[in-house]
Amino acid sequence: MITEVITRYFHFIGIFCLFSSLVVEHLLIQTEMKRSEVKRLAVVDSIYGISALVVLITGLLLWFVVGKSSEFYLGNAVFHVKLTIFIIVALISVYPTLTLAKARRGENDDSVSISKAVIMVIRFELLLLIFMPLLASLMAKGIGSF
Ligand code: HEM
Repeated sequence: MITEVITRYFHFIGIFCLFSSLVVEHLLIQTEMKRSEVKRLAVVDSIYGISALVVLITGLLLWFVVGKSSEFYLGNAVFHVKLTIFIIVALISVYPTLTLAKARRGENDDSVSISKAVIMVIRFELLLLIFMPLLASLMAKGIGSF
């Protein structure tokens, strides 16, 4: 019981950090930036990556180790949608991460151009993530079970 509560707690902490770091990233990113600003943004992006890992690990624990049986989730369509969205977000987030990793190399005072597509990807990630808590609540109630 207490292990489930702790796992859920860290699932939520991971989610808070995931959302907040992505919002900060979205607020700070611009098409023209100083390299020193890009470096700061790359740090925020690492926090985002670590948060995603925490959400994933605690999600897997909730799925396979604590709480309801793993079959409960495997037989739920809403859970599959939730997992698919998470995977899509993880895959598309590689683009901003690689862009920032490349752009951060060099002198601090240099000016760096960031493609508008990177900003659009971050916006799309935010849009997709908005639906996750709703899907999670539905699946937890068994809605979507087949
Ligand atoms: C940004 C990503 C995610 C968000 C926003 C999210 C959100 C949530 C929320 C709000 C709950 C609580 C549901 C409730 O008790 O009403 C929850 C539970 C859960 N999540 Fe996630 N989650 C995410 C990613 C994941 C991933 C990647 C997995 C699986 C690998 C996962 C597996 C689970 C499981 C198994 C539960 C327990 C549901 C239950 O109580 O029956 N989550 N999630």
